[in-house]
Amino acid sequence: MFKTLPLRVLPICHALKRFARFQSTSKSITVDAKSYPSDEWTNIPPFILDLITRKLHKNHNHPIGILHDLIKSEMSGMGYTIYDDFHPIVTKYQNFDSLGFPEDHVGRSKSDTYYFNKNHLLRTHTSAHEQECFINSKTPGYLITADVYRRDEVDRTHYPAFHQMEGARIWPRGDLEQIRKDIEAIPKTNIIVEDPFRDQPVTENNPAQEHMTLEEIKLVSTHLKKTVEYVVNQVFEKARESAKLAGSTEQYLTEPLRVRWVEAYFPWTGPSWEIEVWWKGDWLECCGCGVVQQQVLLNSNLGDDKLSWAFGIGLDRIAMLLFGIPDIRLFWTQDERFHKQFQQGRINTFVPYSKYPGVKRDVSFWLNNDVKLHCNDLMEIVRTHAGDTAESVVLVDEFTHPKTGKQSQCYRINYQSMDRNLTNAEINEVHKKVEKDLVENFKIEIR
Ligand code: DAH
Repeated sequence: MFKTLPLRVLPICHALKRFARFQSTSKSITVDAKSYPSDEWTNIPPFILDLITRKLHKNHNHPIGILHDLIKSEMSGMGYTIYDDFHPIVTKYQNFDSLGFPEDHVGRSKSDTYYFNKNHLLRTHTSAHEQECFINSKTPGYLITADVYRRDEVDRTHYPAFHQMEGARIWPRGDLEQIRKDIEAIPKTNIIVEDPFRDQPVTENNPAQEHMTLEEIKLVSTHLKKTVEYVVNQVFEKARESAKLAGSTEQYLTEPLRVRWVEAYFPWTGPSWEIEVWWKGDWLECCGCGVVQQQVLLNSNLGDDKLSWAFGIGLDRIAMLLFGIPDIRLFWTQDERFHKQFQQGRINTFVPYSKYPGVKRDVSFWLNNDVKLHCNDLMEIVRTHAGDTAESVVLVDEFTHPKTGKQSQCYRINYQSMDRNLTNAEINEVHKKVEKDLVENFKIEIR
């Protein structure tokens, strides 16, 4: 098993001073007046706690909030209750068990997920709230938007916090006519769709749930896919309109929008798919979805006579494309030069306000045979000491010594601030702390 990532308690934490909404000691972490006793699962550093106060999706003048508002308004009047205020701390049951995650699913591991303790964690996806929404929603569908958290790499498109929008729809079984009517009611688009699975949703790799008929699966999945295509179309059409208004004449602006469906796997849906959007020469994965497993509906006290679909859209990558944001860290900057560029209801291209040089430093070491160092542990240590000045961390070299059998790794860290120049002295200091932390907590030997 993975080594416990030690709880790092920074005595002078800028977040504590700013918000005073959380407090960490070695025994417990208190957030919004609720205390979570620490145990061997605890692995949340203070800078992550700082992020949970930000709620970027509710800021109407922030790219994430603007995108959220756009999707909400395009889907208004279609029967979806809006939820966008769920607290990010959820139980293991909500995030994994209620959705049927296998016990050995990698998502449950401490190297991937931020735990307060063995029972409480920062949600890794908005699906964590599906059960309560299935129970509480009074409309045929619901939408949940929230910040979600995952331990991950450090680079321009990965950040430990990001945003998702979950959607779901439910029907009583036995009224297929209603589903047909609902499909007809979804506004038509001119999107070009590649979908080998539309008429044959069930394949060897993407099995049906036994209790469902093929007709039921076809209707539910057609409603799901047309809904997702509609959302994607509205968002990307809006982006094109804005680009044209701003005077752009790029070729992609006149081509019809293209999407394709690929098969996928999620523990709580079957069959499952992902939609990819062709945008400026690349396929962009943007939404996982599928026909909800009956067990999830049973867990939500809805009985065995319902049919349902669910999807989860990642907002940050889409917002990066729409607004021309080159680095995901920019969403979290407090710099006015970023924030003053965006306004409610407008999609405009970000104008970089400056480019400060990056400084690369390597950390090379022998791993300790007895202490496992997951690359996400190293990423976390860098983020803890460098904060948002860590632009990227890449494993550049790895080998095993032929005689001693010892394993060597070298990671290259690019320290680069988006808002100011970094001095050599401060980078040296941060880099030293990174090395010291690795030595103390993972018993590595610096080379
Ligand atoms: N929660 C999934 C993720 O984070 C996305 C997703 C996939 C949500 C399928 C869904 C779904 O509701 O049905 O990758």
